[in-house]
Amino acid sequence: MSITTMLSGRGAQAPAAPKTDVALDLRNVQKTYDTPGRPHVEAIRNLDFQVRRGELVCVVGPSGAGKTTLLRSIAGLLDVTAGEVVLDGTTVTGPPEGMAVVFQEYGRSLFPWMTVRQNIELPLKEKGIPKAERREKVDRALEEVSLSEAAEQHPWQLSGGMQQRVAIARAIAFEPTVLLMDEPFAAVDAQTRAELEDLVRSLWKHLGVTVLFVTHDIDEAVYLGERVIVLSNRPTVLMEDVKVDLPPERDQLTTRSDPRFGELRGHVYELIQRAKRGERPDETAAVDKGV
Ligand SMILES: Nc1ncnc2c1ncn2[C@@H]1O[C@H](COP(=O)(O)OP(=O)(O)OP(=O)(O)O)[C@@H](O)[C@H]1O
Ligand SMILES: [Mg+2]
Repeated sequence: MSITTMLSGRGAQAPAAPKTDVALDLRNVQKTYDTPGRPHVEAIRNLDFQVRRGELVCVVGPSGAGKTTLLRSIAGLLDVTAGEVVLDGTTVTGPPEGMAVVFQEYGRSLFPWMTVRQNIELPLKEKGIPKAERREKVDRALEEVSLSEAAEQHPWQLSGGMQQRVAIARAIAFEPTVLLMDEPFAAVDAQTRAELEDLVRSLWKHLGVTVLFVTHDIDEAVYLGERVIVLSNRPTVLMEDVKVDLPPERDQLTTRSDPRFGELRGHVYELIQRAKRGERPDETAAVDKGV
């Protein structure tokens, strides 16, 4: 996948001014894969939820539930089978304006023969942004992720955590209105992960970007999110949309030792366990109705 398919941020043709406070609207989204040798893999049975402008929402669910499928559908990298993804009032039919994606595999998403600066600059260049403006945007993004000194180095000269910060810098240099992240910190150590979580919270706060963050890690979802969307086993439906009523100022020590954090984590954990056992709200509803 090329950089241009991953990043389609605000350039010369910025999207029309938003009309409502809903940034992302998933309307009965369904996705079934049909590939030779493995026909009819129903990944998403039905998802219907909204993300408000400027919200940070986490998505958790059992492995293979359809989280990446969901993110790729939202990013316009996959066609949905039914339903629609609506971004700022417009149905997504391809990579939309104003959206950036950060994937787990930073190693594969950065070009090793380019410097950090060149990697961040590439999508801006492809978008036709003039040189001086590009330089300014790259410098600002590097500063945001505290990597100004690494600008002229190559990705392979950096640690895993630093490389993932470059991938984040590349996404934010584009000034997206929506940032999608798919298990972005799964491959880094625990301490780096905590630092990157705090980086996401602080960028989210001062850039005012809408963030949808997919993770396996229940603690991470509760720590980061304003809401946690819990998905069922495949074919996925919504298990529960959990509101995270923790104070907005979060830090690794205070927040994680807050009794409410423990309650929320326990609740999401329980939901995931139930999802793994194959419990699903759509079937409960069917039984209730005697179907
Ligand atoms: N390109 C594809 N073609 C066919 N089937 C696919 C494709 N991508 C995913 N699937 C299938 O769709 C289902 C959901 O996969 P997906 O990668 O979305 O799950 P996930 O929740 O992201 O899993 P994980 O937690 O392991 O990352 C799986 O059964 C997977 O095999
Ligand atoms: Mg995945």
